Amino acid sequence: MRQNKLTIPDIRHRKNGTPIAVITAYDYPWARIADAAGIDIVLVGDSLGMVVLGYPDTVSVTMEEMLHHAKAVARGIEHALVVVDMPFGSYNSAIPTAIGNANRLIKEGRVDAVKVEGGVQMASTVAAIVRAGIPVQGHIGLTPQTAASLGGFKVQGKTAEAARQLVDDARALEDAGCFSIVLEAIPAPLAEHITKAIAIPTIGIGAGPGCDGQVLVMHDLVGLYDRFTPQFVKQYATLNAQMVAALAQYKAEVESRAFPGEAHSFTMKAEELDKLLRLY
Ligand code: KIV
Repeated sequence: MRQNKLTIPDIRHRKNGTPIAVITAYDYPWARIADAAGIDIVLVGDSLGMVVLGYPDTVSVTMEEMLHHAKAVARGIEHALVVVDMPFGSYNSAIPTAIGNANRLIKEGRVDAVKVEGGVQMASTVAAIVRAGIPVQGHIGLTPQTAASLGGFKVQGKTAEAARQLVDDARALEDAGCFSIVLEAIPAPLAEHITKAIAIPTIGIGAGPGCDGQVLVMHDLVGLYDRFTPQFVKQYATLNAQMVAALAQYKAEVESRAFPGEAHSFTMKAEELDKLLRLY
């Protein structure tokens, strides 16, 4: 293991400490950028399906796709902990299948941990994966893989009853051995309540400031798309506009022959050129 590589105990110890910064990445260059910025956890999210592969949702993402991208991210990371999403269908049928797929992500993907969506109903699967020696991050609240049964991409836990269910979910995942839990799109006071109720770090996305850490989708954070972004996203850059402008300038310079100029071209000795020209 690399000397300054973050470990599961390092993340656990951040409970009530310095907040944990988490970002998604899906390939080698973006992983290197996240690592260079000192990000704590790089998540190879199955948001891959929507932001990189152009699928309408995360449900279509396959194990082979997650593995392909997990390997690329793992190759780009020296410091951060790398977590990979188990895709829909890879852990919700039978426990041996779930363990087998988690094993593949760790062994072939070379990542540090897996993430699983679901609360109480997923606790026995999580416990089995943890018993197999694989660290698991939980994910409750708005769980995109099952968004259809939650009534769409909506804030969860807004009634006392729904909120209590989420507290139960968090406790069940803690008991099952998760090392941290993502809380997505839930009211800030509920996220704070859950954070106080459990002894493992919570990572919020659309869950307010009271969590032990935060996660955002990389492409949302750097403004790589000019399309809809959820209310909880803060754009720290507008790369889409910068990239479109750069490409438009490139096109114009190719058309006007301003590019490539001397600075981007290679020379050859005059006598060699003369020899060549004399050949014809
Ligand atoms: O897939 C993903 O990117 C995620 C994060 C948004 C938490 O699950």
